[in-house]
Amino acid sequence: MNRINILTVSILGVVLLASVSCARPHPSTIGSDAAVERKVDKLLSQMTLQEKIGQMNQVSAGGEVSNYADAVRKGQVGSILNEADPVKVNEFQRIAVEESRLGIPLLVGRDVIHGFHTVFPIPLGLAATFDPQLVEEGARVAAVEATAQGIRWTFSPMLDIARDPRWGRMAEGSGEDTWLDARMGEAMVRGYQGPSIDVTSMAACLKHYVGYGAAEGGRDYNSTFLSERQLRDVYLPPFEAAVKAGAMTVMTSFNDNDGVPSTGNAFILKDVLRDEWGFDGLVVTDWNSMGEMISHGFGADRKDVARLAVNAGVDMDMMTFGFLSHLEELVLSGMVKESTIDAAVRNILRVKVRLGLFEQPYVDVQAGAAVQYAPEHLEVARRAAEESAVLLKNDGVLPLDPARVRTILVTGPMADAPHDQLGTWAFDGQKEHTITPLKALQERFPGQVVYEPGLTFSRQVRTRFDDVVAAARRADVVLVFLGEEAILSGEAHCLADLNLIGSQSELLAALKATGKPVIATVMAGRPLTIERDLPNCNALLYSFHPGTMGGPALANLIFGDVTPSGKTPVTFLRTVGQVPIYYSHKMTGRPYNGETLLADIEQEAGQTSLGNTSYYLDYGAEPLFPFGYGLSYTTFSYANIALDKDVYPVDGTITVSFTLANTGDVEGTEVVQVYVRDLVGSVTRPVKELKAFDRVSLQAGEHRNVQLQIPVSDLAFFGLDGVKKVEPGDFQLWVAGNSASGDPVSFKVR
Ligand code: NOJ
Repeated sequence: MNRINILTVSILGVVLLASVSCARPHPSTIGSDAAVERKVDKLLSQMTLQEKIGQMNQVSAGGEVSNYADAVRKGQVGSILNEADPVKVNEFQRIAVEESRLGIPLLVGRDVIHGFHTVFPIPLGLAATFDPQLVEEGARVAAVEATAQGIRWTFSPMLDIARDPRWGRMAEGSGEDTWLDARMGEAMVRGYQGPSIDVTSMAACLKHYVGYGAAEGGRDYNSTFLSERQLRDVYLPPFEAAVKAGAMTVMTSFNDNDGVPSTGNAFILKDVLRDEWGFDGLVVTDWNSMGEMISHGFGADRKDVARLAVNAGVDMDMMTFGFLSHLEELVLSGMVKESTIDAAVRNILRVKVRLGLFEQPYVDVQAGAAVQYAPEHLEVARRAAEESAVLLKNDGVLPLDPARVRTILVTGPMADAPHDQLGTWAFDGQKEHTITPLKALQERFPGQVVYEPGLTFSRQVRTRFDDVVAAARRADVVLVFLGEEAILSGEAHCLADLNLIGSQSELLAALKATGKPVIATVMAGRPLTIERDLPNCNALLYSFHPGTMGGPALANLIFGDVTPSGKTPVTFLRTVGQVPIYYSHKMTGRPYNGETLLADIEQEAGQTSLGNTSYYLDYGAEPLFPFGYGLSYTTFSYANIALDKDVYPVDGTITVSFTLANTGDVEGTEVVQVYVRDLVGSVTRPVKELKAFDRVSLQAGEHRNVQLQIPVSDLAFFGLDGVKKVEPGDFQLWVAGNSASGDPVSFKVR
């Protein structure tokens, strides 16, 4: 079904896609729940306490099957991670199935975060597509490739809301917004697990449950201090949505929130996840996060933290070995009930049974090799890279006309960095298969490309760029690829300074000084503070780390085969001191009103007052680019924005309609966005919240009536009475191309 048709029938893609996916069998009901439970019960009844505890133990394979062969044989291992060699996976499974007493297959997990061999843009880039359907396709590709090598469990999606780009793991999630994050999470779950469970289904793992992205100071693993209200309104909804989409597993996070480490937090693991949401899959810890509760000072020793974790609702221990060493003793001494162990093992076995591991524990190694980097997989990766790039500046230089450029200078540290353009968590992407911008451009314009990197890596410091400047003078156009290598973002890779690192800004300035048109592309794992660089380029594309097909995708965008359509999934800062800055903030009693900045006042002695609102004297209160922002090679206008009613019941549905017109000269796709504000609540409400979006493609000059729907129940929040519900009252709604534009229309809920 083609997307344009979906929209022509004037149903929002989001709603239609959601209904398609709802019509699918919920993955956790496949194979009849009763039959699954019977099998689980039967197995459980045959297991010794030690065998049960063995299922609750996950180990890192560590390269050699022999390292854990004996433990697997004795039934002391329920899952392995970090083994992607299908021959070794088969051997592990053979030992489990044929040589352990009960023949229970292993659950083989791996961090398949944004693709397996075919690497997609980093998740932050995927979020910039605002295209859940494409993200689902990408996750399906990842599952097809990874399961073909025996991996049936991925530790993805990462659903952590991230509002501090110093935090390196912002790269791995969908950015700052709850609604967008939830839609991306659902899409990934559907893609990984598939429309129905078969041998290509890879169980999704929702992580990091919960609050991990709010790490104090943007330093990874740090404490968080989120109230129950912030959890329920901002951080938990993406997890709830992904659980409802059928996610089979959840991972506890490293952080302590308000003093309680997630791995020992019964409120989030039992009350919310199990009792409120009805989750019946398995909960795994993060790597040694059980053991780290000792460092947190939450437990005295490994035995203590094993007790705390299992009693809080953890089913599987990743790499602390606390369950294996201490659970038996804890059960025998009455500190842990055997029924608690049984419940955990049921959750684990249920996932194994549902995945069909008992029927098909092995993979066909030859057939598996054949699907890696399949042309249709590369095609999805290219589309994703095209849609994820955000055009942040264009003085009219783009798109370039290929007929009018003879000599192209390609420069910058990211122009030919095949490993680094894959981004963080790309264990299995191989640089030999990665197409860099340099390679793509050389193929497309044989003999016309001059390559002078200027900086061979981003952190390099140079004071003169004579070679690059000379090459720029001889070229018709300069394509400079800047940013940060993969290692500068991701887990534990946080930064306090977010300016382009090394001498990259100096390189850009030197290029601009030549007077030649300069097109900058930034590949990065986070929004960098690029304000000072914008004057030094004619156009700037922000591509995040674009993955295997980044080169062809960027060439297509720069030369106009494809019109940019990505939108910022996170607010871009002017300076790092603005952290945290996000569009869905609360309104202060004294909101910023364009007051004087230090730079604007005369240097007078005796100046005593500069205004009394919420802003920085030196930077004001506005970001560099708002959430949801991105340019196109065309322009769009919004007209006739109307609601189907003035007043809605709490169980109603809001239909907003509008006319979107492509007012420019080329075909383009607009990400239309709907934001809502609840004007008065029992507690204060954000100034705007995204509640719907869709991608609408229009030919030059075309216009279309578009409708989007919002169930009123989506306006619920955690009120003063501790209940999440819609509070009747007055609301405003915006339809716009980003979070900072548009005029509101009003409605009421009664
Ligand atoms: C630690 C990371 O926090 C988590 O995201 C990852 O899945 C595990 N290690 C396994 O590699």
